[in-house]
Amino acid sequence: MDNQMIRAYLMDLYKNPKNYGVIKDHNLVLHGENPVCGDNITLYIKKDKKKIIDISFESEGCIISKAATSILTDKIKGKYIDDIDIDFFNEVREDLMVELSLSRIKCAELSFSIIDKGKKEF
Ligand code: FES
Repeated sequence: MDNQMIRAYLMDLYKNPKNYGVIKDHNLVLHGENPVCGDNITLYIKKDKKKIIDISFESEGCIISKAATSILTDKIKGKYIDDIDIDFFNEVREDLMVELSLSRIKCAELSFSIIDKGKKEF
């Protein structure tokens, strides 16, 4: 994909993110924000013991954070929380298809860090 196609792909994920909104039967809510910019994400999770049955999100944030959350929520749906490790985040970075600066890595990492910190809630 050339740069223009990648930009269009990211913009589409931003405007039409997967798993966006509130799933009605969630039984866990996790929230976090990027302290540098104040952008924030709320994850709505339907879990059964340690398994993520369904997940959705709402966010106020940049293109990268929203696109990354769209990708991540798709990847972890149906997975056991204990199996979600840094490899998932590395896959998200690959799927974003852009080289990320340090500050942009924080944007991409926001939803993953919320899940990681929320593991104790499962
Ligand atoms: Fe705030 Fe990206 S600029 S999360």
